[in-house]
Amino acid sequence: MTTNNTHKPAAFDGYYRKQVDTPDMMLCSVGRGTAGGEYLRRFWQPVAYLSELGELPLRVRALGEDLVAFRDGAGDVGVLHLHCCHRNTSLEFGVVEKRGIRCCYHGRLFAPDGTLLEIPGDPNAARLMCEVSQGGYPVHVFAGIVFTYMGPPDRIPAFPMLDRFEIPGVELVPGVRFELECNWVQIKENVVDPHHTNILHVIPQRRGVEHFADEFEHFPELTFMETPAGAMYLAARRSGDNVWVRSAEFFGPNIHCISSIFEAGAAPKAATPPFMTFWTLPVDDEKSINFYLSHVASEETMPFDKRRALEIFGQRDDRPYAERQYLPGDHEAQVGQGPINVMALEHLGTHDRGIVMFRRFVRQGIKAVAEGKDPKGFYLSSEDLPPTYANDRIFPVDEIGGSPNDPTVLVRLAEQVGRAYLEQPPMPTLKTMRSTEAEASS
Ligand SMILES: [Fe+2]
Repeated sequence: MTTNNTHKPAAFDGYYRKQVDTPDMMLCSVGRGTAGGEYLRRFWQPVAYLSELGELPLRVRALGEDLVAFRDGAGDVGVLHLHCCHRNTSLEFGVVEKRGIRCCYHGRLFAPDGTLLEIPGDPNAARLMCEVSQGGYPVHVFAGIVFTYMGPPDRIPAFPMLDRFEIPGVELVPGVRFELECNWVQIKENVVDPHHTNILHVIPQRRGVEHFADEFEHFPELTFMETPAGAMYLAARRSGDNVWVRSAEFFGPNIHCISSIFEAGAAPKAATPPFMTFWTLPVDDEKSINFYLSHVASEETMPFDKRRALEIFGQRDDRPYAERQYLPGDHEAQVGQGPINVMALEHLGTHDRGIVMFRRFVRQGIKAVAEGKDPKGFYLSSEDLPPTYANDRIFPVDEIGGSPNDPTVLVRLAEQVGRAYLEQPPMPTLKTMRSTEAEASS
């Protein structure tokens, strides 16, 4: 780490510092009719885990709208406006039935798509049922997570079935809710902020608590690159006789992908199994929920319960305050920025390029939607979906073409790996490797 012996002298000038308390709401708004909210309404949003939809309806809030989610007796999932279109009673008190949800107040029955199926006792029911329906949104259930699309129904994007979901020998296990009392932007920025992994995520180890692999502590050399649907970082660091290049990415605007937090760079590898994929739901301007999948590879030796505890650590508001102060995690760092981070008060450093890229990506998307165009990351056809790039590529030291202790060599390597991924993304490589392994062992 570089230490500079010239500093701007502190001048006890707090009194004169800017007192800006206005966040950038052009970027951070999520509500209906706002520029940011219209942008977010062009993408599938996670609203619940399928396991949360049981006998009772689930009240959810997404993009500033109150909704009800339920799974009827036929197994179909509905995401409808919360208040019944009859007399506005909340459907969270409704009865989930075989064919839909019935309002508790006067018994109107709605199908999962909002069609009004019954109006008990009304002599004009047939006519009213032709005229009235409940507001609702299309639903897609994938790997135990319920997604909904809240934008214009004449232009529904393909659900992003990413290349990392179909790796042989890797099971997809739904996660748990990470509820965060802050705006969605500061949550997504975290994934293209690799500088924090070797500061925040090594505090637990230094204080005697297992979390990330110890090797994350070594300060990496970083590079950042745009991808077809977002941006990735590549972090190169020496690990014993190897050089380990870790990449992670956001797939705009609300998905992010990481590889294992237990990777230590101990053995050369061309590609490693995915580890977690996250979707961030902007609940409203000041609240968000991360939904995620754990990718569990067949060769994992850590018991899943232990893995789950370590992947959850520091992601929720579920620990005593003093413990969160002593062992802070992503939750503390992100919520600690305030309900909506005031970017005008920041002083960004060299390693914050990913943050700048993420904000630019979102701003450009907001502008595109405002101009009636499709934003980057929006795909109508699943055939157009681009690949993902989160991976661990590990080289023996003698293959990197220079000293592993020379930062310029590491940056050059990270750039080479990034460019190679854009030509040949890592997940198809992994699929081929694993298919070959499976054939060899059968
Ligand atoms: Fe983190």
